Formats: sequence, C-alpha cells, structure tokens
Amino acid sequence: MEDKLIGREALKQNFVAKEYLTTYVSVGCGGPPTCGTIYAPALEKLHKTFSRGDIRGDTLIDIGSGPTIYQHVSACEYFQEIITSDFLEQNQEEIKKWLKKDPEAYDWSLILKYVCELEGNREKWMEKEEKLRRTIKRVLPCDATLPNPFDPVVLPPADCLLSTFALEVACKDHSIYRSVVKNLGALVKPGGHLIFAATLGVSYWMVGPSKFDCMALTPEVVEGAVKDAGFEILSCESLGFTFPPGICDAYDALFLVARKPK
Ligand SMILES: C[S@@+](CC[C@H](N)C(=O)[O-])C[C@H]1O[C@@H](n2cnc3c(N)ncnc32)[C@H](O)[C@@H]1O
Repeated sequence: MEDKLIGREALKQNFVAKEYLTTYVSVGCGGPPTCGTIYAPALEKLHKTFSRGDIRGDTLIDIGSGPTIYQHVSACEYFQEIITSDFLEQNQEEIKKWLKKDPEAYDWSLILKYVCELEGNREKWMEKEEKLRRTIKRVLPCDATLPNPFDPVVLPPADCLLSTFALEVACKDHSIYRSVVKNLGALVKPGGHLIFAATLGVSYWMVGPSKFDCMALTPEVVEGAVKDAGFEILSCESLGFTFPPGICDAYDALFLVARKPK
C-alpha cells in the first residue's frame, strides 16, 4: 500500500471536490423510486432521526462537511442555522458555489427529490432547496484536531453536532480519535445531540485517481469514544453498505445518535 497518499498536505494537494462528488454521491444515481446514490441509507437514517422532531434547536454544526450538502437536507427543517465546515478550501468553495447558485455548482436535485420523497412529497424539492440555502448560514474552515477547530472563530455551543465520514480521515489513530470526539463533544450544549456516520475498517479511499489513507474504525471504537466524551448513545446502527470495488474498502458503515445529559 506504498501508493497511498498519507497526511493532510497530500489531501490538500490532491483532493478534487468534483471528483469526490462524482465518485461517491453520483454513484448509480438513477431517479425514482430511490435516488440510487450510495448515500441513500445515510439519507434514510438522517430522515428518520430528524423527522421524530426531538432533535432540533438553533444551531447544527457539521464537521468535515466536504463538498456535500446531502447530510443537511432533512436537518434544515429543524434548525435555524446550519454551519458547515471543512479542512479543505476547495470543499468550502464547492458549497459556497451551490449557495450562490453558480452554474458550475454540483446539481443536488436527485438527492433533494429523494429526501422530499421520504418526507412524503417529492414535488416540493425546489422549496427544500431554497430552505436549505437559507439555513446554511456559514461555511467555515475547520481542523477537527485542533482544541478550537474553527480558530480564530469561536462558536457558541450547538444543539447538534453532525459529522459524516470525516473523522476517520481527520484522525491518524484511535487515541487521537478519542480525544477529538471528546473535544467536539464539548461544542454541544447539555441536552444536545451528536450524530456520526462513519465507515468501518477502511484502509484507503479513492477520489478520482488519488488513493488516500484512512484510519480503520470499529463500532466499539466509535461507541467507546462517544461514551468517554460523556454522551448517552441513543442508537448505533449499521448502514449496510459497501462501496463499489476499488473505491473504498469499508466493510460497512455505522450511524450513531447520542445525547449529552443535561
Ligand atoms: C470522506 S470525506 C466526507 C465528506 C462529507 N462529510 C461526506 O459525508 O461526504 C472526508 C472529509 O474530511 C475532511 N477532513 C479531513 N481532515 C480534516 C480535519 N482535520 N478537520 C476537518 N475536516 C477534515 C476532508 O477535507 C473531507 O472533506
């Protein structure tokens, strides 16, 4: 595996936002009745989680958002403000393009239609798109491994902290992962929630021709870190997906919801 690109400098130099979107979000996108994207199981879990109505509030912070907004489509009905964040400028730019309706922005319509279908009305996807654009209020640079990930910006504690498939990329080993989860947990208000989606057992992931390194997670490591951070785990379920061969060697992914005691 000497051909793997390791470390944050390699990520900065070689990660191409549009290639990530083509590799991961567009895989098999085929229209109704499902959107066909590999992220459909995550969209379904996010829909179920937020539509219960008890995870809501002023602010949701997403850590390591990448160039994607699929993870915010259900949430935007339940928060006044969503803050996206990522380590890479190219990812922040990709989201800003979508917010500005730049003609070169990624087309999220299939994902928006799919989530609207889950909510019972596929036809209202354009309203949803506008609602999401209004709700994403900030797109911040972030390094999840820093004591203040948004330095020099200081954010007040949030009602919900979300992170999808990012911390296994941000953290070099399990001990760093545990301290990062603890630190991120401190950004959540008492009574607030933590939602993680994580790939399991990954040693590499591809973005176009670039093969990146990744830390292999297990459900025990994720759950242990969340409990150590002082959270009560409400659910931890398999997402039941693997990637097409040669893209990423995850054996599964998990979806975890936890609450910080008041
Ligand atoms: C596999 S992508 C996931 C993107 C998106 N959340 C998704 O669900 O598709 C991993 C993301 O983690 C980001 N990342 C890597 N190291 C990071 C760090 N130290 N702090 C914040 N984000 C980081 C990368 O820039 C990349 O966007």
